[in-house]
Amino acid sequence: MIKFNKLNQERPYLLFKEKYDEAIDADQKVVEAISISSFNKKSSEVDSRYVNLKLISNDEFIFFSNYNSPKASAFNSNNQIAALLYWSSINVQIRMKAHIKKTSVEFNQKYFFNRSEKKNALSISSKQSKQIDSYSRVIENYNKSFKNDDLKKCPEYWGGFSFIPYYFEFWDGHESRINKREVFFKADGKWRHSFLQP
Ligand SMILES: Cc1cc2nc3c(=O)[nH]c(=O)nc-3n(C[C@H](O)[C@H](O)[C@H](O)COP(=O)(O)O)c2cc1C
Repeated sequence: MIKFNKLNQERPYLLFKEKYDEAIDADQKVVEAISISSFNKKSSEVDSRYVNLKLISNDEFIFFSNYNSPKASAFNSNNQIAALLYWSSINVQIRMKAHIKKTSVEFNQKYFFNRSEKKNALSISSKQSKQIDSYSRVIENYNKSFKNDDLKKCPEYWGGFSFIPYYFEFWDGHESRINKREVFFKADGKWRHSFLQP
């Protein structure tokens, strides 16, 4: 589930929430899974991965991750990203473009404090995306952390990423194949609205 906090009342955000509610009503599974694509300037590589979109606070989309991970390095080198959702229960795709940044240390600490200790042990113990000898070593590291670490204290290498889209495309699939594509693009502080051919 995605938490909405004082949602921005501009049209693309309201449309996002409308589609989200429809997807929930249609029993969409893992509705919070969102693909984030990045470009790392140093390696000249594009990459994508799913994360859980936890919160939309006013106009900010927020997820949490490891600040030493490959995605974090990519965001550091180039802060422009693309985000992608597909809710199969209602056949809707939402594409977004945005610039991404880290959330504040205070925000991260508060969020971490209120998470389950099991999740926190994993966040503390995992050097995300670094190679390791075996899966049993992963479990060993996790168990050690669960037993020994302060599971309420947010490590400096964990926290949120937030992005404010400047582009939304809502793709509504139709049985007729005459799919509806509606675009909102922010220019000079104002949303421009248009349709695209399918
Ligand atoms: C549905 C789904 C949700 C995920 N949610 C997160 C998440 O919220 N944060 C995260 O760091 N990784 C999440 N992952 C794992 C990432 O896809 C990825 O494996 C990990 O973040 C490492 O990515 P990186 O090497 O590009 O940094 C999720 C994976 C899936 C399939």
